[in-house]
Amino acid sequence: MKRVTVPDVTAAKGRRKLTMLTAYDYPTALWVDRSGIDMILVGDSLAMVVLGHDDTLAVGMEEMLHHTKAVTRGAARALVIGDMPFLSYQVSVEQAVLNAGRFLKEGRAQAVKLEGGARVLPQVRAMVSAGIPVQGHLGLTPQSIAQFGGFKVQGKDAEAAQTLIEDAIALSEAGCFSLVLEAIPEAIAARITEAVPIPTIGIGAGPHCDGQVLVVHDVLGLFDRFVPRFVKQYETLGPRIVEALTRYREEVENGTFPGPEHSFHTNPIHNP
Ligand code: KIV
Ligand code: NA
Repeated sequence: MKRVTVPDVTAAKGRRKLTMLTAYDYPTALWVDRSGIDMILVGDSLAMVVLGHDDTLAVGMEEMLHHTKAVTRGAARALVIGDMPFLSYQVSVEQAVLNAGRFLKEGRAQAVKLEGGARVLPQVRAMVSAGIPVQGHLGLTPQSIAQFGGFKVQGKDAEAAQTLIEDAIALSEAGCFSLVLEAIPEAIAARITEAVPIPTIGIGAGPHCDGQVLVVHDVLGLFDRFVPRFVKQYETLGPRIVEALTRYREEVENGTFPGPEHSFHTNPIHNP
């Protein structure tokens, strides 16, 4: 199976919609891959939906690499993108390149993602010079929630919108191959999508982006602590899991599991 490449993603702009989902482990990567999704993001959202933290600041490089390795073992077709965690790229350009490189070298991902606009341009340029494909991320960048004062829609006033558009153009010029736009008004996302030659991948950014991304636990209904407005739940697996596991518990308790078909017998005639 031929893998989706970075040039495939950039070439899709204006021709077809791109799809991206998160995954954090091997089985989920298999399911996402088999669904024909273009890109798998090993998001630092794993801090919240897999590890139970309140925000994404809690995870570092070691956790991210641990999960990236599991995902790349399962993804044969999708382009795998490692999400650079808080403090892995903000401190210095050198650290940023070394950490980004670990996602490719150790994690076997094909690209990395980082958050921010003007303030990360030196990092983006240095990574791209090192041969590391970079996806940008603007709007509600969750590693900055302390500055935003919570998970809030960004770019609502004219000045903030203008900054987003300038940041998007600058990231594109610095060499990003695509750009995630999170929780911004759809009209602003449409303007950014027109303004840059690289694909925009929206989450809570309306229908005019070049592609869409969601957190897989949100899509499948596996995380219900809160469900943002921009999420569409295509399944509610959480309650179905509880139902299945409750049946298992009841059958063990009332003696109907394991049955003869699940048990081994000394007389081979009874073994299937
Ligand atoms: O960590 C994540 O899952 C993300 C996506 C929501 C874009 O950054
Ligand atoms: Na993220």
